[in-house]
Amino acid sequence: MRRDVRGRVILITGASRGIGKRAAERLAKLGAKVALTGRSVADLAQIVRELRTTGAEVESFPADLTLAADRERLVQRVVAHFGGLDILINCAGVSSFGEFATSEETINRKVMEINFFAAIELIRVCVPHLTASGTKGHQPAVLNVASICGRCGIPSLPEHCASKHAFVGLTESLRGEFVRYGIDVLLLLPGLVHSDDLNRHLLRNDGKIYLNFEGAQPADEVADGLVRSLLDNRREAAIGFVAWWVWFGKRMFPRVVRFIMKRKALRFANRTTKVAC
Ligand SMILES: NC(=O)c1ccc[n+]([C@@H]2O[C@H](COP(=O)([O-])OP(=O)(O)OC[C@H]3O[C@@H](n4cnc5c(N)ncnc54)[C@H](OP(=O)(O)O)[C@@H]3O)[C@@H](O)[C@H]2O)c1
Repeated sequence: MRRDVRGRVILITGASRGIGKRAAERLAKLGAKVALTGRSVADLAQIVRELRTTGAEVESFPADLTLAADRERLVQRVVAHFGGLDILINCAGVSSFGEFATSEETINRKVMEINFFAAIELIRVCVPHLTASGTKGHQPAVLNVASICGRCGIPSLPEHCASKHAFVGLTESLRGEFVRYGIDVLLLLPGLVHSDDLNRHLLRNDGKIYLNFEGAQPADEVADGLVRSLLDNRREAAIGFVAWWVWFGKRMFPRVVRFIMKRKALRFANRTTKVAC
């Protein structure tokens, strides 16, 4: 069933920039009550100021999602401010672009902490409120922004792929579990996206595979795809031409995808490729 977001309370993580920020703008325009979160207090306040000039009902709730106390406080504040919670959009994330053999445990743990543990523990805190939303007939949902890296392992992105595969696995598991609470669980798989600030998005940036970050998909297009998924209640959506082909190819022609990945890695194995930031 198509979802109407007018008047619905939507919490968006990673809303201080990138895909999350654009999704917040679009959902506010559609009449949702939007709660934005991230750590960048000034950036969030600026977005809220801009959106309020359009008459949108928005508020920022800064939080470091890797901290359990922040997650609890965040959800309590959102519910107290808006009187409930109908939709959670998990968009906060980081990445690391570099070879596994020369990476470090700290990078692996940081990527997992933000992309996986923070997101899933936030879902747990939100479940009672989303369940209450269901009893009011508000069509509650959790929309997880993973990545095509959650469906296909890409060289030079080992930590990112691992965290997103874990996130995709958990998403599929929750989809079945949450039927009893009436909560829809949706999955978004963007391809490579042009980040607002690559230096903040990447913990490391010296991968040996050709990835054109500069020519990547605009965050606006991904945000459009996110909103479409939410309104159409699409269980899983690969966003963009490349992501869709990787998603489709991995299912239908896995050997071809493996061959292409191997070639991409071998072609650049002996070159130093640093992405321009
Ligand atoms: N960029 C890509 O190529 C790409 C491709 C596929 C999937 N994705 C996924 O799409 C999502 C958004 O990506 P993006 O490109 O829009 O990223 P981005 O522009 O770097 O934004 C990341 C967001 O996550 C927030 N964040 C990071 N660590 C946090 C923490 N500890 N606590 C709270 N918030 C935190 C940041 O806010 P603060 O810095 O203010 O805390 C920021 O708002 C991520 O999950 C990413 O993995 C991205």
